[in-house]
Amino acid sequence: DVRTLVLGIETTCDETAAAVVERLSDGSGKILSNIVRSQTEEHARFGGVVPEIAARAHVDLLDGIVDSAMKESGVSFAQLSAVAAAAGPGLIGGVIVGLTTAKAIAMVHDTPLIAVNHLEAHALTPRLTCALAFPYCLFLASGGHTQIVAVTGVGKYVRLGTTVDDAMGEAFDKVAKMLALPYPGGPEVERAAQGGDPRRFAFPRPMLGRADANFSLSGLKTAVRNEAARIDPLEPQDISDLCASFQAAVLESTADRLSVGLKLFHEQFGPPRALVAAGGVAANQAIRGALQDVAAKAQTTLIIPPPALCTDNGAMIAWAGIERLAMGLVDTMDAAPRARWLL
Ligand code: KG4
Ligand code: ZN
Repeated sequence: DVRTLVLGIETTCDETAAAVVERLSDGSGKILSNIVRSQTEEHARFGGVVPEIAARAHVDLLDGIVDSAMKESGVSFAQLSAVAAAAGPGLIGGVIVGLTTAKAIAMVHDTPLIAVNHLEAHALTPRLTCALAFPYCLFLASGGHTQIVAVTGVGKYVRLGTTVDDAMGEAFDKVAKMLALPYPGGPEVERAAQGGDPRRFAFPRPMLGRADANFSLSGLKTAVRNEAARIDPLEPQDISDLCASFQAAVLESTADRLSVGLKLFHEQFGPPRALVAAGGVAANQAIRGALQDVAAKAQTTLIIPPPALCTDNGAMIAWAGIERLAMGLVDTMDAAPRARWLL
């Protein structure tokens, strides 16, 4: 059988996910199944992801999710070209569950194992959905990561900027929590901001004008907390105004950081083929608008994968597996799960 078919498994945070992706003869990817079970309900009453609960939920859920992904794809285990799992970075309990499951499948079905870096999977996702060539500039903003990365090839990543404190999604989540909005907070803050005045509070624009392309979000978060503490009682309009003002500060800072990142990219690698945004924060419509402006100013195209592929999923792991397999990059059974793993 000449088909290239890879099963991808994702368990690094609070999504239990599996997918089967095929590489077609023209090099493009086709998602045959993509099952994501978010553990939002399990963690909601704690206001954030509890690692131990996440790991146990992955144990309970993963077999069934893999089963569904295989059935829906119409592909048998024997047909698989490889099985790929996110081997980190992430919450180590969950990573162990996913990687160990992938090893078991690989052993039983005598299939190559591919241990994928979760961040690499986010970085390569746009090539699954469109014919994008290297090099391109990636803006990755999720609950755990905020990075600007030059993607110059499979396995070739140069970090141009990163957060020096909180991740961007984490800042949205913390602001939501301090304003008593439900978890996960990012979409709630965006919704509240829609009816708010972005100029009512003059929050700091972190790192504005700095020569490096790094981010900082904790000072801004603290500024929101201090302002909120001064208002008593906190009315819904105050919450909307706080969210709108916070989001405006994030947008302005992000636009500035990305324009520096694109400049650094240009100096080192020439013009990027695109600016690509990924991670949960890329689902934010206001941020999408800001990125559009940044890309236009840098005379490049903005590509944002569909929301379901921006947030954590198995298809991105399977696709990274396909890209690595094509380069002959397979792993051995002693591949280690990693809590921390830089690109
Ligand atoms: O990529 P993701 O699903 O999971 C990881 O963290 O790896 O990203 C989730 C993060 C959360 O912090 C969530 O609050 C944030 O992305 N997020 C948003 C929005 N939707 C999700 N942040 C701002 N605006 C949104 N619309
Ligand atoms: Zn992620």
